[in-house]
Amino acid sequence: DWTMAAFREQAIAAIRRQVGQGRVICGLSGGVDSSVAAVLIHEAIGEQLTCIFVDHGLLRQGEREEVERLFRGHYNIPLVARDASDLFLGKLAGVDDPEAKRKIIGATFIDVFEEEAAKVGGADFLAQGTLYPDVIESVSFAGGPSVTIKSHHNVGGLPERMRMQLVEPLRELFKDEVRALGRELGLPETLVGRHPFPGPGLAIRIPGPVTPEACAILRKADAIYLEEIRKAGLYDAIWQAFAVLLPVKTVGVMGDARTYDHVLALRAVTSTDGMTADSYPFDHSFLSMVATRIVNEVRGVNRVVYDVTSKPPGTIEWE
Ligand code: XMP
Repeated sequence: DWTMAAFREQAIAAIRRQVGQGRVICGLSGGVDSSVAAVLIHEAIGEQLTCIFVDHGLLRQGEREEVERLFRGHYNIPLVARDASDLFLGKLAGVDDPEAKRKIIGATFIDVFEEEAAKVGGADFLAQGTLYPDVIESVSFAGGPSVTIKSHHNVGGLPERMRMQLVEPLRELFKDEVRALGRELGLPETLVGRHPFPGPGLAIRIPGPVTPEACAILRKADAIYLEEIRKAGLYDAIWQAFAVLLPVKTVGVMGDARTYDHVLALRAVTSTDGMTADSYPFDHSFLSMVATRIVNEVRGVNRVVYDVTSKPPGTIEWE
């Protein structure tokens, strides 16, 4: 794509002009935007960039390993990956209100990020994968830079006290353009075409209090669901697909024994921007196959249901 090739060259020149000999840190989320921003900035300034990845213990199966393999392994980009699961899960213990969960996760994320940034000696610039739609929605704090704070949404929105200039090379791009740029930069298709994943992660897919046990169950079930969606060739036709572990137990039967375990809800939607969405019309046979696999393979789940609610009136996430 010649447009993206040209954009890439211009963006690299602009990053070099802005940063000079300065040091840059970039928070990686595992998603498309921060990954594309990081690889582009690395191309521009090499080792002047350090990436920080905070594992809040609410990621899907294998996510931290993928980020480490790609950035540290493949691209050789200096990466700090901090496992802060115990800290986050400790603070979330007993909390069941969705907005309270988001606030705790957001605040803890900032604390851990600041700690790690200080450990690498700080930086002059903070890189963010802000896109054009985020810029439109962004709020400018008095005297401060314009920071994206999709209210409760972006966990990555950092406070004013991190007085660094922002490097935002994707500010003029829409999502599909970021994907094209990612391809231009040689990022793997599995990353470039990835479904959106919320900052608070699995915490908002476990209604009620989050426990390590619930996260482990949900992670296994979610991985089976996504594996089958990929195998059936449906991944790219879907905007987001995920499982939700309900705080409801029902009776089932396994062999000769009665079981009393959790209900798991499956969600998959089509959408163009996440503002409105329709439930994805899977074949019934696909859903029964996934349900059978999950109940047979995931201990703690004995019943699977499919969410057929559109947005509106529903939301995509359950919390
Ligand atoms: P809802 O559930 O509001 O979701 O229909 C719309 C889109 O936003 C994502 N989402 C979030 N993303 N932090 C995020 O970074 C959040 O707290 C959050 N809540 C919802 C959701 O996954 C969907 O793509």
